[in-house]
Amino acid sequence: MGRSIDIGAAQLGAPAQIDLEELLATRLLVQGNSGSGKSHLLRRLLEQSAGLVQQIVIDPEGDFVSLAARYGHLALDAAECERDLAVIGARVRAHRVSVVLNLEELEVDAQLRAAATFLNALFDADRALWYPALVVVDEAQLFAPGVASDGSDEARRMSLGAMTNLMCRGRKRGLAGVIATQRLAKLAKNVAAEASNFLMGRTFLDIDMARAADLLGMERRQAESFRDLERGSFIGLGPAISRRPLRVKVGAVETADRGAAPKLLPLPEAHEAEALQNLILAPGEPPPPRVRNAPKPERLQEIFTQIEAPPPDIVAAPPPELTAQEREAAIEEIIGQIVGEAKAAQQAAETLHRDFQLRCRIRRLGPGAPDLADFRRRLTIFRAKQAFPEAVDEEGWDRAIELASRLPGDLQSVFLYLSRAAAAGQPCPEDAEIAGFFGSASPSRARRMLGQLEQSELIVARTDFEQRRIIAFPELGLETAA
Ligand SMILES: Nc1ncnc2c1ncn2[C@@H]1O[C@H](COP(=O)(O)OP(=O)(O)O)[C@@H](O)[C@H]1O
Ligand SMILES: [Mg+2]
Repeated sequence: MGRSIDIGAAQLGAPAQIDLEELLATRLLVQGNSGSGKSHLLRRLLEQSAGLVQQIVIDPEGDFVSLAARYGHLALDAAECERDLAVIGARVRAHRVSVVLNLEELEVDAQLRAAATFLNALFDADRALWYPALVVVDEAQLFAPGVASDGSDEARRMSLGAMTNLMCRGRKRGLAGVIATQRLAKLAKNVAAEASNFLMGRTFLDIDMARAADLLGMERRQAESFRDLERGSFIGLGPAISRRPLRVKVGAVETADRGAAPKLLPLPEAHEAEALQNLILAPGEPPPPRVRNAPKPERLQEIFTQIEAPPPDIVAAPPPELTAQEREAAIEEIIGQIVGEAKAAQQAAETLHRDFQLRCRIRRLGPGAPDLADFRRRLTIFRAKQAFPEAVDEEGWDRAIELASRLPGDLQSVFLYLSRAAAAGQPCPEDAEIAGFFGSASPSRARRMLGQLEQSELIVARTDFEQRRIIAFPELGLETAA
């Protein structure tokens, strides 16, 4: 289990938790009628995970700007920087800054374009910048409409395309979509279908209920219960939340939303009919024309400076004190998780290392997590142990690890793999197995690397009388079985 964040109470008062790592991999869809508590829920999720992961909020109503003061998010007023959103998006990615893109001052068309430009910039970031980030989109049916809706065709196509990229192809790039909608039936189906986690709130319309039941794999009859949910209560389901439908009461938040539920206010004292006429119908000054989108270079410069500033220190409590041993154990466990996930061998070490760094942060291991080279070495050692889990000559194996640290990348891999086989008294692996170990499909590449190791006199290969290969490690006093 990775780091869990607490979103409130489940049945019988147990905490309702979301597994953050799992969420990054499997995305979340929140649905519920207006007033059901979706934005509150998103806020709770953002507050609880601030400081653990980069957060990017697409905020059509300016609801989330208040996160800035408490958690250090950069609040971007889209009307002020509309033209520069592509550049800003790219820098946000590069500097891993949490931001709220506030779209409330824009007309519908401009909102769609701004969201699309910004999301595309995040999506198109250079491979080296594919850091994990939560991308939260409130009122997602605006940006990914399933049926004709407000806005011009072109703007709608643009934002639908960006949302589809985010939800369907974002994961590989580290972007995890968390989207909320008040009308599931109005949200594009392909966008909804990519989320594996759901939180369903109060829903009145049959057509939304039917879509929700389909997505959750529930009977329509079961989904009827969504009608009776009170504000702030949701049914959660999915790998990051719960394997069975779980009723969740969302907990309190620290920052304020702006759209508090409307309250009745006393009307002003009644006016005389004539005074009223004057009040409303008297000729007046025409309202000043709205000037907008005039570029304001100082503001833009300010935004860039803020993006590049080091992130504020917002982790509430200092990380727990760990002994060197506990730390090593935690690192080993994380490496085990990474190896346990399919295809670890095929992925570039840089990608795995980023994942590793994130997990270290989530576990709060503090500064000084292993760098790429160290991580690579540990990963190889872990996989070599896994390949030959038998009891080994520990002394020989320790020396092998020490010797290997002098070798570069793939040679180090091959050396550790073979010396582990030897230390475990196992036969020498085939060329194809050796290649497979360092993520190559080419046995001839494995042979070339054996040649290199032989030249550097770290190994001696010979064959026995049945032409079976044996590899000896003169410096370690080990050799593989035939
Ligand atoms: N779990 C909750 N606890 C307390 N107040 C809540 C909760 N959920 C929602 N509210 C309040 O109810 C109102 C509507 O919630 P909101 O999240 O804006 O709904 P939605 O985004 O679904 O329209 C807001 O004033 C909000 O503060
Ligand atoms: Mg809302």
